[in-house]
Amino acid sequence: MTTREHTACPVHADFDPLSPTFLADPFAVLAALPRETPVFYAPSIDYYVVTRYADIEAVFLDHETYSAAITQLPLVPLVPEAVQILRAGGITSQPSMVSLDPPAHTRLRSPTVRAFTPRRVAQMAPRIRATVDQLLDAINPAAPFDLVATLTFPLPTTIIFSFLGIPEHDWPQLKAWCGHRASLVWGRPTSTEQVQHTENMAAYRGYLRAFVAHKAQERDDTLTSALLAIHDDNPEALTQEEIASILFGLTFAGHETTNYLIGNVVRRLLEAPTRWDAVVADPALIPGAVDETLRYDPAVPVWRRVTTRPVTLGGVDVPAGAKLFLWLAAASRDAAVFPEPETFDLRRTDASKTLAFGKGIHYCLGAALGKLEAQLALDALTHRFPRLRLVEGQTLSFHPNISFRGPQALWVQATQETGGEARRASVETV
Ligand code: HEM
Repeated sequence: MTTREHTACPVHADFDPLSPTFLADPFAVLAALPRETPVFYAPSIDYYVVTRYADIEAVFLDHETYSAAITQLPLVPLVPEAVQILRAGGITSQPSMVSLDPPAHTRLRSPTVRAFTPRRVAQMAPRIRATVDQLLDAINPAAPFDLVATLTFPLPTTIIFSFLGIPEHDWPQLKAWCGHRASLVWGRPTSTEQVQHTENMAAYRGYLRAFVAHKAQERDDTLTSALLAIHDDNPEALTQEEIASILFGLTFAGHETTNYLIGNVVRRLLEAPTRWDAVVADPALIPGAVDETLRYDPAVPVWRRVTTRPVTLGGVDVPAGAKLFLWLAAASRDAAVFPEPETFDLRRTDASKTLAFGKGIHYCLGAALGKLEAQLALDALTHRFPRLRLVEGQTLSFHPNISFRGPQALWVQATQETGGEARRASVETV
């Protein structure tokens, strides 16, 4: 890693979060970085990389100095044809609440919080359990199976789409659109790929607009209908287009994240089978296992902000308009906050201090739902497959993007199947 001075800010010329080396093991890249440069400029992406917990927390807590406007901006500049397709599809550079600043952010977040009640999340538990059971029933435990294809990918899609009331026959299409979105916004697509992705994005947004218009005529007990009820109270305060924008956020955030969270949890437990065995023996460790995975190997390792004025961050002068790469995964390995940060510790008591869900006004709205899904999935897996092990010799691969990380396939084998209803009780404690 070469370092040279550049307007008082260190520059790491060969830091590239989309390089094969980084994608395969970002923690090795982190470990090789000089500790005395907690904020540095990365020309490969034209971003200032922020690695310390305290600095990232300060950024999240000051939304006036650090705008969310670039949160959903494609990482690489788009070709004119792709820009035109997005514009024609009505997709702006700040297409949903996560990239809006107040007051526009508050206008969308407040009604979403009103509709996204803890009661509504808690009501999803039986549906989550039933879906996990159904997916696990379909597995042949006598042969190795890919846990991503069989469980971690289909579970969160089923949950979020049913939570929003999207008809089941449209789920495969929505899943595909979300894949295009991840590559367009957080990856480095070629010009041809950009056009393909933007066409899909426009179709995705158009679908949601039509879906909201349809749901307005046919109410049910889903989150979408709850948002429409708020619209009915005062159509000016929350328009149908804004509801489509909220759904644009939730349909994506609700599954790419949780898919990877569950994959990371199982990977990290099976990597050292004594961890898995400890959870099998004591299911009360499940919530801690999920929290520790969110710290040690977060599903959203990077988030972004842009400065609205010149600032000094981590001892470095940063100009106005600087794009910040908030490396949440690095903050979780910050020894100033987490003792022995490189150790995966199932019994760590402070893991939930992590910034894995952000902090401040944009704090993740789905944190409770995502964690619940991961906990219930782990509970069922450890119950059904107490001797689960990773298939030896597999090489994990990761989608080439900066913000969503988990194995794209995770081959496991259930070396011996056992049953026992006693473990079911643990679910209630999760
Ligand atoms: C389970 C793993 C998940 C992780 C690691 C995660 C992570 C994050 C992060 C880092 C942010 C940005 C916070 C900020 O800017 O301060 C965020 C925002 C958000 N997340 Fe999640 N998320 C997860 C699951 C979910 C789920 C399941 C949903 C929806 C059901 C969801 C919905 C949202 C929404 C709507 C926002 C934007 C909130 C706002 O701008 O006010 N997330 N999430």
